[in-house]
Amino acid sequence: MKVGILTGGGDCPGLNQAIRGAVLKGIDFNFEFAGIKDGWAGLIKGETMPLGLQEVDDVVSCGGTILGTSRTNPYKKEGGVEKVKDNMKKLGLDALIAIGGEDTLGVANKFFKEGVKVVGVPKTMDNDLSATDYTFGFDTSVTLAVEALERLRDTGRSHHRIMVLEVMGRHAGWVALFTGIAGGADWVLLPEKKPDIEEMCESLKKAWKRKGVGLVVASEGTDLPQFKDMKEEKDAFGHMILKKRGVADTLAEDIEKRTGIETRTAVIGHMQRGGPPTLFDRILGLRVGVKAVELVKEGKFGMMACLRGNAIETVPLEEAVAKLKIVDDAWWNLARVFFK
Ligand code: F6P
Repeated sequence: MKVGILTGGGDCPGLNQAIRGAVLKGIDFNFEFAGIKDGWAGLIKGETMPLGLQEVDDVVSCGGTILGTSRTNPYKKEGGVEKVKDNMKKLGLDALIAIGGEDTLGVANKFFKEGVKVVGVPKTMDNDLSATDYTFGFDTSVTLAVEALERLRDTGRSHHRIMVLEVMGRHAGWVALFTGIAGGADWVLLPEKKPDIEEMCESLKKAWKRKGVGLVVASEGTDLPQFKDMKEEKDAFGHMILKKRGVADTLAEDIEKRTGIETRTAVIGHMQRGGPPTLFDRILGLRVGVKAVELVKEGKFGMMACLRGNAIETVPLEEAVAKLKIVDDAWWNLARVFFK
């Protein structure tokens, strides 16, 4: 069989490991692979690269994706869907492995319904994909954000400041929540929860009085009242480009005004997405990559590899992309235990 592999959407640590897992397992089945360049854009253009043992031999500790990626949506491009199907034929691809989050896998699911033989591998640093307990990329990006928060605590304590760390995560607050809990933040702001700025500032004042420093982790998707009339740009999948909001700076100005405590900000941004994956993300990436190839071998198209507990299982792509996995009240109530 000849199998195409693509990585779509934002990159994250663990992608190269998933590609490696797929290729090495494929060798056992005598599969041949084609690396599709830059996600769905590569299939629209018919752009591939060689993908075999040589290409994945040394990627076990590398961040990013050797295949490149993009946020291209073939369903939003003139003739995009037909070009993808034609190019699959021209390239002699019998099947496709799509590695991505809700957008990339949403497209994969649509193609599956049109008869394309495709299986999915879940990835996203946002950890917002349903039907899997965790996605690779999340552990690494939160580990980096926790380290950043700890560094902010040191400098914040020296200057007796409140420090605001803005983290990614788009419409789900998992990254902010885990960073805040694990890093000992005094407050966390999530897209899922309407922010109570007054309550937060009272809590920050208490924490600052006690420790000489206050720490806030804010998700880039936090819905601050200041953004009410903001016109926001959207990407090809209809998501707001959140980096333009400036959550941390807007928040810091407000905190400083309300508390009278000097407040500084840091935005970790894309630093969260680079670098070598953690142990957890390496192993998860390798395991779901292997599973995807087993799905192809068994002809189980329209399915996605997923993590349930500690087992790698499979679910229909449909189930994974039906709705976003967001932070629920139980997690929020746990976070609140630590705001004192
Ligand atoms: O979905 C992953 C993610 O890192 C989000 O957390 C963030 O909002 C977005 O991608 C940023 O996208 P880009 O890399 O295109 O700026």
